[in-house]
Amino acid sequence: MPDYKNGFVRGRGAQFVLAFRDSNDLAPNIVGMGTFAKLWPGLGRDLILNTVIASSAFPRPLRWGALRAYGLKVEKSRISPGVWFGSHRVTIGAGTFINYGCMFNTSAPVTIGRNCDIGMRVTFVTSSHRIGSRERRAGAATSAPITVGDGVWIGAAAVVLPGVTIGEGVIVAAGAVVTSDCAPNGVYAGVPARRVKELHAVL
Ligand SMILES: CC(C)(COP(=O)(O)OP(=O)(O)OC[C@H]1O[C@@H](n2cnc3c(N)ncnc32)[C@H](O)[C@@H]1OP(=O)(O)O)[C@@H](O)C(=O)NCCC(=O)NCCS
Repeated sequence: MPDYKNGFVRGRGAQFVLAFRDSNDLAPNIVGMGTFAKLWPGLGRDLILNTVIASSAFPRPLRWGALRAYGLKVEKSRISPGVWFGSHRVTIGAGTFINYGCMFNTSAPVTIGRNCDIGMRVTFVTSSHRIGSRERRAGAATSAPITVGDGVWIGAAAVVLPGVTIGEGVIVAAGAVVTSDCAPNGVYAGVPARRVKELHAVL
């Protein structure tokens, strides 16, 4: 069962909300919720998190607070409509901007630092597979967390793969695929992303 003590939602009255939020893993423990979870796995995520809160109709200044109430560890930040979260296992630091259409796959946690700018359609991928047999090449599932340091700018449509840590002050160019760690204060571009420029650490 998830450890909600470390989240932002507390109290017995929140139990139903939590069951709705994480209907996959908590609902079977609550009378009457097992069937609910079987019929609509992930309904809380798909309906509340990624439809209602993600909607253009939802007041933008309130979105970070709504995400926080849902259980994401979000400080005051600007999050555009149409951002997709796989679960509450996401941390977003104060002053960060997330542009339209980003995707947070959260088989493992994704942590974004403070004052980051995440361009449109950036994808954070924490899940993968071991190579399987020729009957099914996507074998056993694996996952690893992603960490993005303070002040990072990630350009549009970049993809960040499992286990990657992006150091503070890095710029990731549009369309890059980040397959390994990025040392602080440099520009990374291409597929796979390579360090193409040094940036000043103090400017
Ligand atoms: C990375 C970026 C910021 C340019 O940074 P820069 O420091 O001015 O870098 P330069 O233009 O001097 O390019 C440095 C090298 O990286 C290459 N490069 C730049 N952007 C690249 C990209 N997106 N993909 C691949 N290579 C790229 C350049 O061709 C150059 O290579 P070279 O040295 O062999 O000629 C810019 O290209 C970019 O990707 N911006 C993102 C824009 C965006 O996504 N906006 C969405 C709103 S947040």
